[in-house]
This record gives sequence, structure tokens and C-alpha cells, in this order.
Amino acid sequence: MAAGKDCVKVAIRVRPFNKRERDAGSRCVVSMSANTITIQDPRSSQARRTFTFDYAFWSHSGYVRNRDGLFVPEESGGRYADQATVFNDLGQGILENALQGYNATLLAYGQTGSGKSYSMVGYGPNKGLVPTLCQRLFQAVKANQDTCQCQVLFSMLEIYNEQVIDLLSKGGRSPAGLRVREEQQRGFYVEGLRRVPCDSAAQVEQLMEQGTRTRTTATTHMNANSSRSHMLIIAQLKQIFSKENITKQSNINLVDLAGSERQRCSGPEADRLKEGTAINVSLTTLGNVISSLADAALGKKVVHIPYRDSVLTKLLQSALGGNSRTVMIATLSPSDICYEESLSTLRYAERAKRIQNKAVVNESPTERLVKELKAENAKLQLRLSRLGQDARKEEESKELRRLLSHNEMQIKAIQTLWEQHLQEALRDWQTQYATITQERRMMQMHPYILNVNEDPQLSGVIKLFIQEGDWDIGLSEGSSRTITIKGLGIQERHAVFTNEERRVSLTPVSGSKVMVNGLPISQRTELQHLDRLILGSSSTYLFVGFPCERGADDWSRYDYDYFQSELAAAAGIHIPSLCEEQSPGEPSAGLDQTDPSLLAVFYDYIKLIPMVTEANQMSQELNKGVEFKLEIKNLAMSDCRGRDLEKDIAVRVTSLENKQVWMWSKVKFINRKFLMEEVYQQHQMTATSGSSTSGGGGRNQGGVGDRLPLPRDRDPFWDPLEPLHLGSAHLWLQSLAFRIPLEEQVEVLGSEGTEEAILQAQLLPCSPMGLPLGEEDILIDPTELLGKRLDFQLFLEQCCGLRWLKEAKNRGVQIGFRVYDCPQTFYTPAVWHNVNPVLEQRLHFTAMRTSQDLLNYLQSSALVLELWGLQEGCADMVSPMEGLRMTPEGSFIIDKASAPDPSVNLRSAVRALHQELEQMRSANAALRKENNALREQLNNRGSESARTRAERERDRDRERKGSVRPSCDAELARALKVFYHSMTSVRAQLQRLRRHRPSEEADLLGLRLFVDEQSRLLRDFGEQLEQSVTALKQDVAAIVRRKRERSGIWS
Ligand SMILES: Nc1ncnc2c1ncn2[C@@H]1O[C@H](COP(=O)(O)OP(=O)(O)OP(=O)(O)O)[C@@H](O)[C@H]1O
Ligand SMILES: [Mg+2]
Repeated sequence: MAAGKDCVKVAIRVRPFNKRERDAGSRCVVSMSANTITIQDPRSSQARRTFTFDYAFWSHSGYVRNRDGLFVPEESGGRYADQATVFNDLGQGILENALQGYNATLLAYGQTGSGKSYSMVGYGPNKGLVPTLCQRLFQAVKANQDTCQCQVLFSMLEIYNEQVIDLLSKGGRSPAGLRVREEQQRGFYVEGLRRVPCDSAAQVEQLMEQGTRTRTTATTHMNANSSRSHMLIIAQLKQIFSKENITKQSNINLVDLAGSERQRCSGPEADRLKEGTAINVSLTTLGNVISSLADAALGKKVVHIPYRDSVLTKLLQSALGGNSRTVMIATLSPSDICYEESLSTLRYAERAKRIQNKAVVNESPTERLVKELKAENAKLQLRLSRLGQDARKEEESKELRRLLSHNEMQIKAIQTLWEQHLQEALRDWQTQYATITQERRMMQMHPYILNVNEDPQLSGVIKLFIQEGDWDIGLSEGSSRTITIKGLGIQERHAVFTNEERRVSLTPVSGSKVMVNGLPISQRTELQHLDRLILGSSSTYLFVGFPCERGADDWSRYDYDYFQSELAAAAGIHIPSLCEEQSPGEPSAGLDQTDPSLLAVFYDYIKLIPMVTEANQMSQELNKGVEFKLEIKNLAMSDCRGRDLEKDIAVRVTSLENKQVWMWSKVKFINRKFLMEEVYQQHQMTATSGSSTSGGGGRNQGGVGDRLPLPRDRDPFWDPLEPLHLGSAHLWLQSLAFRIPLEEQVEVLGSEGTEEAILQAQLLPCSPMGLPLGEEDILIDPTELLGKRLDFQLFLEQCCGLRWLKEAKNRGVQIGFRVYDCPQTFYTPAVWHNVNPVLEQRLHFTAMRTSQDLLNYLQSSALVLELWGLQEGCADMVSPMEGLRMTPEGSFIIDKASAPDPSVNLRSAVRALHQELEQMRSANAALRKENNALREQLNNRGSESARTRAERERDRDRERKGSVRPSCDAELARALKVFYHSMTSVRAQLQRLRRHRPSEEADLLGLRLFVDEQSRLLRDFGEQLEQSVTALKQDVAAIVRRKRERSGIWS
């Protein structure tokens, strides 16, 4: 590392695409050139941002896996940055700094799954910075052993929810976690954290393995999410140069931070409850500290750096702006879908690189620390004696006494021979080593189950062996024939493994949840090698059979996603089934190429499956009385042009007691799930410690569950009731373009294609006064409407067969819809307690001047009638009247552009009335004329013979020629009217066909029935379409024929 100003060094690393990203056809939006990184906004080719850092590691492409399983550059000198390159650039510097006596810190920051743990810890043979650093450290120690004695103390801890968990603790963990204290000399430190003396890299690796195991069990026991926890490895290096009588001390902090992403919960998705308060305190505070320090470096006046606001920043105080040489590695997922997160990581890293530290070599005469501690103790003694017997100062003297004894312990620790400690640690290590060797031997003898975690770093850590005979598996710890597991939804005695005659079977205990390969089992089931087991809500294990059954197969494909995909498939959700929903009109990407947006929905779905199961389990255990269910929304919804909208995931929440229903967006659910975890953990802590005080950060003061119910406004399981969107119906507007009235019974379809209701509706072209138009007003050419006023009424008569009401009677509904440019949504008044409510809602709409745009809208769109469900206690929806304009007759104006001011409104209304009057007058005149003509004809009857036949023919010809067009037009208009009517039912039939899908439980027979039904529907559809077109063809042909005949006769 460069000398001089100690700015935080920042490196960026870009990882390869993962399976999801490859499947989704992701594009790489990050590029690198030397140390410059450019990120491209996938939505705009113009928008790109460039950043420069100290290091940029391209680990996205250009690599191969060599024989040892290492990822290395494809060709020597290639641009791919492997683990060795990263170590040489970053790790080596950290090591050198530590050996010189500087404190050194390495932080990994980035979105979940972006490669933090890969860089820090590594996977398999691709060892990360920490193990390599330790290896090199001990090599250096060995090389220098003639000149100095080195002591390395190794600690590993996790910060989750502002609690510090010692990952190397030998005893059980305290439920509230360890405390962070402050001391003048040392700054902040974790009280009681185990520090293990080490003298080899192998020892460190084993400790890390132990730490990871503790982390894995803590994650499952507490139902916590490891991506939300920070892992800190602290290596304390002490070098005693006996000749120079000098001691150099250095703290090496290696930090794998929690995933940086935050579920955005703003705008329409905003949640009543803020994101999990404590979960992100450390990460948020870290951001604030970095920002303040960056501002300070830019010369801005910064009064306060908020180190004390979180556990993490307390422990990292010296690393940020203090006595440490610090490196940050920011990891990126380079795919287009991660653009926002990657950009935010780059911005964060940019701020971090401005931070200036003031590192010094921590060098002191060997005895100085002891002297200093003794001096401090003397002071403490003095203060203590002054406090005397004063009972009021009880607290203070207690604290002083505690500090005193702590210092004494430290003095003792410094004075006790290092060798002694080391020997002790080595003995521990040997026992551990024996356990590991024993485990390896067992793996070669017995079948076992292997944990599979969402975080790949924690997968395969726990192995539970199934030896011969019967083995209970569950929470119970008592018997020697019990395999103890913990986790959500695991019962005391959950299931029984039987290993006999070289076969293993699993029998669930009644009432417990056990799934094998995605399907629930209720009776004894024989297991096959690599079967996937889910015990309880979400404890996932891979079954590894007898050694003879294990081939060379790759187990890594059975990752967490695989388990969830299996569950999704069992629920009827797999990628092909999503694709079937594509509209027939849309260009298909081809069967073998799934639409990336559908894949994204699919992955969202499988990500949410375990979360929903866990939420249900927590609800059950905390007596919350609500049930969560995943739904793929919008599968059946379409916009006003009938196109299927993008699919999305929603969670339906139902209260079991009174059947109240809520729909939560994915983002809201995820937010709530984290809050539920907090509540649940508090519940568990109070349950285990038997005390009602909260351990971490003093949140959720209300307590949880049935003991101390949370106030509703802070209960993540509860929400105020809101109207629920049940489904939509489409009323096609085309007939209005021809001024043909339409009377329809439309199906309201729910988001999963269910029929929610039948709605009787009419669209009636009318006069400005609301009088219905007659057949003579039907237009053959809709462009005749252009520039003219158009009036029509929407009449919503009745809703029939409301499913929402059939489920529970104490409910109501409203219909909401929007018309063309009208800025507001109209709602019908609420109707309650009726399965077939009468709506009788008539609204008059007017376009003052029909534009081409409006005409296009009428010809190609439908009025989307949304059915909203009301529940007791939720407010009705009212049509907001702002921005609505009306004609003097009380009709709503739907076109934006026309009639800007009321006087123009009035004038045009008067003009329209005049026109109508004029039309009536001319009709009257025409009638009068006809009457006169008839009268004349009657009078002339007698003298008819006087006229020649030829004359009469000529007259009639003249008459007919004038009237042929109008009468043919009327016939054509009528034929068209019939055609449009039949087309609406054809359209409805098409919609029905598109929504038709097999039931979730369909077996082979069910599927066959479904296919039969589908064929019948298709046949009906074909027939209807054929009939309508044939009828139109015949009508038109007849009209043309008649027209020809007449013109033939009379010409
Ligand atoms: N540079 C890389 N080369 C190859 N694979 C990588 C690389 N970086 C990450 N991966 C792979 O990506 C996956 C996720 O990486 P990792 O576990 O390191 O993410 P993370 O940032 O630690 O996520 P979390 O915040 O959830 O802990 C792992 O399967 C890992 O093997
Ligand atoms: Mg990780």
C-alpha cells in the first residue's frame, strides 16, 4: 500500500453471471478498463456512469476451471482476476501493514449474492482473502521466528440484529448476545469474546469451519437470514522483539458485511410499517459514518461522526477515519436486473475512497501496556474508595469494580505465558480435529443428511448421520437415539429415520410437516440417494445414501433454488406453465426460449415460497390467526387493449377467524417478513430466558405473541382493511364508433382466471340530452364522427353470482373504471350483503369533438370494469371529482383537449341543440312533403291513365335512384350491428379460452378431462367465429346483390 495519506483503498470486483441471470438472458451492464468502471443504464443507451478506483477486478468472464477446481484465466495474462490476483493486490498489502505494526481492515461490501463471501472466505479450492492471508501470516511468522516471537489471537463474531454472537464460543450462546464496551486504551471491544491463540493456518481454517457451523445453526435456530448479518474475523498479531525490547501490536479486522440491498418500499408500494428497525441499523450507520467522513475529507464542516449509533461502527471505529489502514472490496452483480443496486454500490464505494485515516505503528516497550493498566487500576481504586458506602452510587461502584477486575484479568493475561495459552488452544484444536476426522470416517460408512442453505456459504456445513436402526429426529435432545435439529415448524419428535437392511426410510410423526422431493409425505417413505427433504417449514436437507450408491454425480445442482423449484412445480408453477399465458397475438420467443420477464417472476416465486411457509409458521406459533398464500397476479388481467400485463407476485393474507383478506405486494411482504422475524426472535428469547426484557436494542417493547400482544400499529401481521381488487371485465367500445348500442353480460375474471361475477352492462349512444339514438343514426364509416360531438351512456345494471359474497356475506362490492382521457376513476356506490346486487348506475359521457385518437381508442379498446371487494370496517371508494369537467346537462367530458372553458361548453351545447332542432325541422319538412306527395297521388289516381307508362317509369327511377343508397346503408348498418354483437360474444369466448387452465390438483385423468374441455371450447369458438363471419358475408353479399339488381333494373 502506498505510503503518505492513508486514504481508504477501494477495489471493485465483478462476478460471473449466476444460473438465474444466465437463464434470464441477462445483459452485462458493467465494463472495465484499467481501474475505470463504467456502468450502463439498461433502460437508456445514453445514460452511463464512470468511476475510478484503486483497483478493478474483472472476474466476470474469460476463465476456465482447471484440474484442481480453481477458476483461472482462460489464457495466461488474460484479464480474468482470480483469487490469487485479488490476494496479491489487496491481501498482501494488509499482511505487510500488519507485520509493520499497523492496524489493518478489509471490508467486503455489496448486494446479496454479489460475491462478498467468495472474495473474503472463498468456496472449496478457490480460497478467499482470509484463509490465504492467514496462511501467509504464519509463513511470515515462521520466517521471522529467530528475531521475534509472534502471537496470533483469532476471534470470529457475527452481528445480527444489533446482537453480537461469538462464533467460536465454547459454551452456549447467551440469548441477548455479547456486550460492546468502551475503554480509554482500547476503544470499543466485545466483552467476553473468545480469542483463540493460533500458530498455524490449519488451526485457523478449522476455527473458521467451526464459526461457519455456529453461524449455520444460529441461522436456522433463530430463523434468521445470514445475508442480513455481518461477519467479523479479528486476528490480533503481537510481535515481541526481545532484542530491541519492543512489542508491535496490530489488529486485523476482516469483515464480510451484510447484503447491502434494501427492499425499496416507497411510492405505491409504501408500507405502513418501516423496514425492520434493528436489522439494518449497522449497515445504515456504516453508510452514515462513511458519508460524514467523506464530507470531512472534502473540507465540509462535520460536527459529529455517528460511530456510536451501531455495534458495527463502534467496532470499526479505528478502521474508518482512525488508526488503521483500510481496504474495501465492493462486489457487483453485473447483470442488467441488478443495475440499481450496482450503481448504488459504486456510489457508496466512491464515498468510501475519500475517507482519510491516520494509521500509526502500534509499537511500545514490552512492559508499557502492563504499566498503563496498573496505573489505570490505581485510579479506579481511588475513585472506588471515594464513593465509599454511598448507597446512591451503588451502580457506579459496581461498574468500577467490573472495570477493575477486567483490567486485572488483562494484566494476568499479558503476564501469563503465551505458551501456556497456546498449549491449551492446541489441546482444544486436537479434540476438534478428532471430531472432524471422526466425521469424515462416518461419511464413508453411513448415509447422512446434509443441510442446504439459501446462502451457499452455509450449505453442506451440517451433516447428520443415520446409523443402523431407528432414529428420532426433532427438537428433543434427551435420548441417545435422537438426532436433534432445530428450526421453524420442527416438532419435539418430528420424524423417524429407519436404517435397516441397507435401506433408509423416513416416517413423519403425525402432525409434522415432511416433504420429499417437493411432495408432502404422511407415511413411511423409502429414501433414495440425493432425495431432497424439507422438515418443518423450511429446514432443507439433501439425503446422501450409502457410499456404494454415491457415483461421481455433481451434488451442487441441488442448491436451495432447486428445492424451491420443486415445490413450485408441485404447486403447478413451472416455467412452461407461465409461458402458456402469453397472448396468442404476441410474437412468441419460441418454446425453448423463455421470456426473461417470466423467468424473473418464476424466480421471485421460488424465492418467496420458503418465506411464505415461514411466515405461516410464525403466525401459527405466535397465534396471529392469519394465513399467507402466494399468488401470481395479473396472469388473467389485461389492459384496456386486452393485452396481458406483466405478471407479478402478490401475497394474499387471510384472517382465519373472520375471513378478512389483504393483498400485499412482494416488496411489502418481504419487509413484513423481516419484521415478523424480529417479533418472532423476541418471542423466542423471552420464551427461553423466561424474562420479559428485550435483548437487542430495546425494540418491540410491547413483547409478542399471546403473552404481551403487540399494539396493532406496530404489528407486522396486521393491517387496516382496504378495498381489494377482485378482478376485471372488459366492455369493448367498438360499437360506439358506429353509434350502435351494446347490451352485454360480461365475465369478471380474477387474477388467477377465476370467474368472480357476471356483470350486466350497456353502452348506449345517445343525444346530448340523453335520448337514445335510433337505427338511422348508425354509422357505416366511423370517421364521420371526426370533429363531431359524441354522447353515450354507460349503464351498469346488475352484478350476478359474486364469488366474493358467496365466500362471506358481510362483504360488499364496488365497480371502478376509467374512461379515455378522464383524469379520475369512477366508482359505483357500494352495495353490501348481496350475491346478485342491483347497481342501476347510469353515467353519461361526452366527447366534445371526436378526435382521431379518441376514435382509435373506441375502435381498439375496452372499458376495463374493475370489481373491488369491500369488507366490514373498510371505507368505500369515492370518485374524486377534481379535474372532472361536465357539460351543463351533467355529462362528464372525456376528451381533454376540447372545451377548455365553461362558456365554450355552453355554446357548444346550444350549438348541438340547434343542430338537433334543425335536423328535426328538416325531418318534419320531409315528412310534410311526403304527406303532400301522397295526398297528391291520391288525388291524381283517377287521371293516371292519362300519363304514359314511360313517363311513370322515369319518375320512379328518379325517385329510386335517390333512395337506393340510404336504404342500402341502413341494411349494411344493421348487418354490421348484428356482426358486432356476435363478435363480442366471440371475444368473450376467446378470453375464456385463454384463461382456461387445469386445476392445481389435476392428475392425469384431470388433465385429460381438461384437454377435452379445451378442445370443446376451441370447437365452439371456431364455430361461433365461422357463423358470425359467414352471416356477415351473406348479408353483405345480399345487400350488394340487391343494390346491383336495383341499379340494373332502373338504369
Ligand atoms: N468471482 C467469482 N467467481 C465465481 N463465482 C463467484 C464469484 N463471486 C461469487 N461467486 C458465486 O456467486 C455466489 C454468491 O456469492 P457469495 O456467497 O460470495 O455472495 P455474498 O455477496 O456473500 O452474498 P450474501 O450477502 O448473501 O452473503 C456463490 O455461489 C459464489 O460461488
Ligand atoms: Mg455471504
